[in-house]
Amino acid sequence: MHLLHKTVTIVLLFLFVKYLKCNAEFESSSFNIKIAKHKSPFEVLINSVKELKTYGIDFTNILTENRTNDSVALYRYLDNEYYAQIRVGKPSQPMNVAFDTAWTATWLMSEQCPWTTIGCIGHDKYDHSKSNLYKKDGRQFKIEDEGYNLTGFFSYDVLYVSHINVTDQMFVEMTSVPYTYIFSKLDGVIGLGLQIDAYVPFFYNLIQQKKIENPLFSIYLNRDKQSDHGGNIILGFIEKRHIHSHKDSNNQTIYDDILYLPIKSGTYWQFDLDKVFLNGSKDANITLCSSGCTALTDTSSNSIYGPKDQVDQIHNNINAKPWLLGRYSVACDTISKLPEIIFYIGGKPFSLKGRDYTIQMTWHSLSICLSAFIGDNSLNNMWGLGGAFLSEYYSIYDLGNKQIGFVKAA
Ligand SMILES: *[C@@H]1O[C@H](CO)[C@@H](O)[C@H](O)[C@H]1NC(C)=O
Ligand SMILES: *[C@@H]1O[C@H](CO)[C@@H](O)[C@H](O)[C@H]1NC(C)=O
Ligand SMILES: *[C@@H]1O[C@H](CO)[C@@H](O)[C@H](O)[C@H]1NC(C)=O
Ligand SMILES: *[C@@H]1O[C@H](CO)[C@@H](O)[C@H](O)[C@H]1NC(C)=O
Ligand SMILES: *[C@@H]1O[C@H](CO)[C@@H](O)[C@H](O)[C@H]1NC(C)=O
Ligand SMILES: *[C@@H]1O[C@H](CO)[C@@H](O)[C@H](O)[C@H]1NC(C)=O
Ligand SMILES: *[C@@H]1O[C@H](CO)[C@@H](O)[C@H](O)[C@H]1NC(C)=O
Repeated sequence: MHLLHKTVTIVLLFLFVKYLKCNAEFESSSFNIKIAKHKSPFEVLINSVKELKTYGIDFTNILTENRTNDSVALYRYLDNEYYAQIRVGKPSQPMNVAFDTAWTATWLMSEQCPWTTIGCIGHDKYDHSKSNLYKKDGRQFKIEDEGYNLTGFFSYDVLYVSHINVTDQMFVEMTSVPYTYIFSKLDGVIGLGLQIDAYVPFFYNLIQQKKIENPLFSIYLNRDKQSDHGGNIILGFIEKRHIHSHKDSNNQTIYDDILYLPIKSGTYWQFDLDKVFLNGSKDANITLCSSGCTALTDTSSNSIYGPKDQVDQIHNNINAKPWLLGRYSVACDTISKLPEIIFYIGGKPFSLKGRDYTIQMTWHSLSICLSAFIGDNSLNNMWGLGGAFLSEYYSIYDLGNKQIGFVKAA
């Protein structure tokens, strides 16, 4: 039961509410959710291998063998680091959720998830029988993606996020989640993806119920990797203090310009990526996605996903070696010498230094430096820009004008 105890105690977090009374531009109907992150999901996993055997789960194979469907699902899941607390139902039930730009349907673990489902162990589960505002839908939800099995049914209830509420939000009560969720801090996910069918996502309801004035949100992820303050999801406005700035000759603060790009159709916040350039450390430079490709943002992950052959070229150039779960490691003492990797978006360079695209984790007395890049061919040649990119660049999701914006974060 030691593991359960650990899982429950580290989910605690404090919701931070910020009213921008002093900012006339955005004086009302906007709010800011502080998101937390937990330290190292890999660490939890590796330290849990023995304990999990008591539940009949043997991860030794997954950890030591080559990439399998199980390991794909596992590390995808383990990258979910950013989460915040919301409340559901009336009287309200607290739950920890990720705000995921690469996912549309909100879901919450259900009280009906049977005790035999290992992934639900240790989580807060939504019990609709205890809520006066629950409304039944009952239609089934099922997704099976490379062994990633999520099964449940739709319900409606009120969600309390920061200081506001959204009533009659439709979401999935999940009755089956992959066993890997035992490592997670997450009891569910708020989908911030785009509406593509009759399902009304959370942010659309927020707008329809006139809970925010400006139909946009923005996401700041903390660059301090040691901090447990993961960043902020800012609903309804752009927070200038997160934008990089300089002082001009009159000592006026000049903020960097936000680059906006039209969003392409689909369920993700997709946009055109011109190319990816690695300013060669070895003998040559590398240009990836050389005739242009599509990228999306993924706030649920710390990583940067790209087509496997292209990510392999990056790893080859930075001397990264295969580690576990399809991840690659680099020698920690080379990080300061790693080449810059530059994403050209809208003709402008968005560069990442070695320390930005590596994640250092400490496991017992050992330090491991993992590359944030993950080769993944399931995204149809798209690049998925997660925390490693989004903590350098503040991102703005302007639903009203169907555009996405990026600017260097302060
Ligand atoms: C993993 O793959 C490598 C090379 O493809 C191979 O040499 C090794 O035996 C494989 N390991 C396992 C445990 O299958
Ligand atoms: C992974 O799953 C797909 C279908 O879900 C299957 O076709 C494929 O063979 C599986 N691969 C491995 C390595 O198990
Ligand atoms: C997915 O989970 C559901 C519910 O537990 C189960 O009925 C189904 O067989 C599972 N599917 C796979 C492919 O494991
Ligand atoms: C939702 O918030 C409004 C104020 O914005 C309040 O009048 C209403 O009672 C709240 N609804 C619930 C279910 O808490
Ligand atoms: C510029 O403004 C800051 C406060 O905003 C002040 O501390 C500083 O002295 C000013 N510098 C000059 C050169 O006026
Ligand atoms: C690539 O690196 C070289 C040498 O460090 C530098 O002079 C050049 O400006 C860099 N190019 C880009 C596009 O950043
Ligand atoms: C790599 O690109 C940089 C900047 O664009 C350039 O200065 C350098 O000469 C190039 N190196 C090689 C080997 O092509």
